[in-house]
Amino acid sequence: MAKSKPGRSGFSGYTLSKLSLNVIFLIVLVVAITVHGSDSSSSYTRRPQPSNSKKLTKPVVLLISSDGFRFGYQFKTETPNIDLLISRGTEAQTGLIPVFPTMTFPNHNSIATGLYPAYHGIIMNKFTDPVTGELFNRNLDPKWWLGEPLWVTAVNQGLKAATFFWPGADVHKGSWNCPKGFCKAPYNVSIPLEERVDTILNYFDLPQSEIPDFMGLYLDVTDIQGHKYGPDDPRVTQAVAKIDEMMGRVIKGLKKRKVFSDVHVILLGDHGMVTNCDKKVIYIDDLADWIKIPADWIQGYSPVLAMNPRWGKDVKNPAEKNAELVAKMNEALSSGKVENGEFLQVYLKEKLPERLHYSESSRIPPIIGMVGEGLLVRQNRTNAQECYGDHGYDNMFFSMRSIFIGHGPRFRKGKKVPSFENVQIYNAVAEILGLQPAPNNGSSLFTRSLLLPIGETAQVE
Ligand SMILES: *[C@@H]1O[C@H](CO)[C@@H](O)[C@H](O)[C@H]1NC(C)=O
Ligand SMILES: *[C@@H]1O[C@H](CO)[C@@H](O)[C@H](O)[C@H]1NC(C)=O
Ligand SMILES: *[C@@H]1O[C@H](CO)[C@@H](O)[C@H](O)[C@H]1NC(C)=O
Ligand SMILES: [Zn+2]
Repeated sequence: MAKSKPGRSGFSGYTLSKLSLNVIFLIVLVVAITVHGSDSSSSYTRRPQPSNSKKLTKPVVLLISSDGFRFGYQFKTETPNIDLLISRGTEAQTGLIPVFPTMTFPNHNSIATGLYPAYHGIIMNKFTDPVTGELFNRNLDPKWWLGEPLWVTAVNQGLKAATFFWPGADVHKGSWNCPKGFCKAPYNVSIPLEERVDTILNYFDLPQSEIPDFMGLYLDVTDIQGHKYGPDDPRVTQAVAKIDEMMGRVIKGLKKRKVFSDVHVILLGDHGMVTNCDKKVIYIDDLADWIKIPADWIQGYSPVLAMNPRWGKDVKNPAEKNAELVAKMNEALSSGKVENGEFLQVYLKEKLPERLHYSESSRIPPIIGMVGEGLLVRQNRTNAQECYGDHGYDNMFFSMRSIFIGHGPRFRKGKKVPSFENVQIYNAVAEILGLQPAPNNGSSLFTRSLLLPIGETAQVE
């Protein structure tokens, strides 16, 4: 894990402010000890309270997703509000690792459930179940959605939840029925980000018992601009500034309601973004000398090649035929005679690298091709050339990483943690809210390294 901090123009300013925070901490500590000292003589013991009176007496989590916010975007422009959350909160120093495939629906659902896509069932944004032949295309039928997302865990255990456009939150499951006024859906790109933020902020004007304990907010501008123009375009820089402005709106709105220091604000993203403007393309028809692959065997070309061959009825052992097909394809791709062939490797799903956790679901097609970073796969040269930003590639690529910043009572101030996979977030949020987590793929030990124990005063590190 690289420990060096990426270049940042205000680095020296950061160190200075960190120094002064240390000084403030010392003063606070002295005051706290003094107060506590005089307090201990009284008949009851009370923890010293921060000077700003605590308005919320229950833990509240505001989980904000900025879709496609690639790690490093925060250095594109001035981001004073994101910087404030970072310097006074806990940050994954080299970003948040998405799950494979690094697509929006699989990742939002992994964040919400703590499960890898093979176990929560949303294995791509759009796919055909190889067994039943049914198409999933962001459907709301609960049969597709196998995990238990945070809002269901919260409501099942007597807490309140609210969501605004979080992918999958409009699926009715268990005791969650996407309640009107607390679950904005369906997704509508035209709803301004300000309206989304203000809807969430307004919940804090409710009587405390009515304030949702868990809130999920979805912002899309970084993903939209990244897809259209690629991650290096100035319009993506503008989108980053917009997200920072929205974080400013969140901070200001919470401060106005005197709850900023009480609320756990988590800012993260589902995946990164990479340009495909180099136009490196692999054409399936170029493999024809080794093996002819009809277009209707292919469910998705790139960033993930998804294949479900339709062998004829006379084929007795399709599994064997699939293995032969994979071998032939890889022979062709590594022959040096297929243009860009070295950037595609094809697997039976059972043989995919273990770290991808992408085999144990009948919904995953039997053959998966891992496509090189930023490459395209097409059937033939007649397909139009495109140039844009994309994601979905191997989660090992740094360009697919997003951000994680946690701010609030259970997050240490100025703390950096190594990168971690987003399946860990479910347990962390459950822990903050005092919820019993459903079975998931996160580690219960991880929350201890990310979060302060209950009641411990956040300290500057
Ligand atoms: C989406 O939101 C815009 C802006 O509020 C609104 O004009 C439009 O009718 C909405 N579309 C749908 C389908 O609800
Ligand atoms: C190229 O592939 C597309 C499917 O991706 C197909 O519709 C088209 O007919 C193919 N063209 C040729 C010349 O094979
Ligand atoms: C992920 O969690 C599910 C549910 O507990 C479990 O069935 C599965 O074995 C886990 N997978 C991994 C790779 O940990
Ligand atoms: Zn996304």
